[in-house]
Amino acid sequence: MVTPSRIARRNNIARTRKKIIEKQPCSLVIFGATGHLTATKLLPALFHLENAGRLAKNMTITAFARREWSLAQWQQHVSEALKDLVNEKTSTPQQKKLFAQFLNRFRYHQGSFDDLSAYQRLANDIHCESACVHTVFYLAIKPTVFATVIKNLALAKLNQPCGVSRIVVEKPFGEDLKSARMLNKLLHQSFQEEQIYRIDHFLGKEMVQNLFVFRFANTMIESLWNRNYIDHVQITVAESMGIENRADYYDQTGALRDMVQNHLIQLLAVIAMEPPASWDADALRDEKVKVLRSIRAIPKNAVNQFAVRGQYATGRVEGNKSIGYLQEKDVPKDSTTETFAAIKFYIDNWRWSGVPFYLRTGKKLAKQTSFIAICFKQPPQQLFHETPLESICPNWMMLSIQPEKSMNIEIHAKQPGLGMETHVIKMDANFLNNNEHGLDAYHTLLLDVIEADRSLFIRFDEVEMAWQVIDPILRHWKIKNASNPMPTYRSGSWGPKETNQLLVNNNHTWRNE
Ligand code: BG6
Repeated sequence: MVTPSRIARRNNIARTRKKIIEKQPCSLVIFGATGHLTATKLLPALFHLENAGRLAKNMTITAFARREWSLAQWQQHVSEALKDLVNEKTSTPQQKKLFAQFLNRFRYHQGSFDDLSAYQRLANDIHCESACVHTVFYLAIKPTVFATVIKNLALAKLNQPCGVSRIVVEKPFGEDLKSARMLNKLLHQSFQEEQIYRIDHFLGKEMVQNLFVFRFANTMIESLWNRNYIDHVQITVAESMGIENRADYYDQTGALRDMVQNHLIQLLAVIAMEPPASWDADALRDEKVKVLRSIRAIPKNAVNQFAVRGQYATGRVEGNKSIGYLQEKDVPKDSTTETFAAIKFYIDNWRWSGVPFYLRTGKKLAKQTSFIAICFKQPPQQLFHETPLESICPNWMMLSIQPEKSMNIEIHAKQPGLGMETHVIKMDANFLNNNEHGLDAYHTLLLDVIEADRSLFIRFDEVEMAWQVIDPILRHWKIKNASNPMPTYRSGSWGPKETNQLLVNNNHTWRNE
């Protein structure tokens, strides 16, 4: 759900920016245009914005990639990538016309990332289109080539066109604290902070934006949101799919860097933050950083008690036979990359002291589902003795992020009849009506970049804090690789059995539904 204030803000921004966008041609340049992210996320999102009439008339999109393709070949690739949204047979003449208009926006720029002359030609092309453009460079590329592209953009003076230039950097931002600081320094040598958009697409998800509204527009919820009432919090991002031909990226990255350091830690920050002073990008980020600063450091010698990893082995996912990680194409047979991670955090501040936050994510798990489960404390006194002890479970609030976008509260109610027995009833609220699908995160975030709204993008101190929390685990697992076998889990399960141990000492169990 896009919030009313966000809509109002967006309308305001749209009004003021409309003039700028229409006066100045906008140019979006995608580095890594033939890659997975562009095909699965960026192209559908851009086409959706085209459909919604949100792309300025004269906006161009340049695909920068290594393949020696003609523009026609690139356009064919776009049609292929979007075949589920528009296709020759089923589209109406109007849809076809709109798609032709979309294809017309593209330029194909062949070049390799380390070839400065390709950037110089790009600069020339952009300036030939118009004397003064507003350019967005989107780095949809492997983190290993970020530095090369940033340096070449600066050398070709593409960081300082006479219009406004922005650079969008995908996660993971660095591979640890040290490299993240180096990358940030490099970016700052050529771009001002206002030009830098560090993207974490989870913040663009409808339900994640809804968490802000849910928490800060409802006094009823906010008053319960602390250690006095909440026993513990579980954040699960489970994927039933594997690594999908991304071995070259994933094997260097692993679940901790790919998902926990960014998406899951951001979810934790949104759940745990204090209300911001305003809905201003920096006010919001200030509060998230305060939470990240309060996460208790995991001691070097106790990592095993706080973090569990695993790698998927063969099994069955949603009824289909599934290969293990080591059998995936291009994965080294002795890879020690984790495809599952679960961590227990404590946030040492007044609101959350003593409340465990459990985070887990993995590939080839039982289900494709992301949700936040909030477990409330038991009442101080058990009055209803007729209810058997084993059925006295705590209240839960389940916030489902995907595929459902819903809230579900489990509370006790009296069983109909003469006695005073209680039972659990569920209150369900779907955030979307039956025929509504909600926007994909990239629709929202791409529009935000084009409209220069940074509130859902990450500031560097957030990145830094998140690495500070994750680094000790990364280091420990690296050392462990040399001496211990990598724990495995059956594809289609909920991860390695050791994951339950994280919760056992606190008498907690994972919620899988
Ligand atoms: C990406 C990760 O950031 O998020 C992928 O690199 C993961 O490995 C994806 O599959 C999950 O995002 P979503 O939006 O599909 O849940």
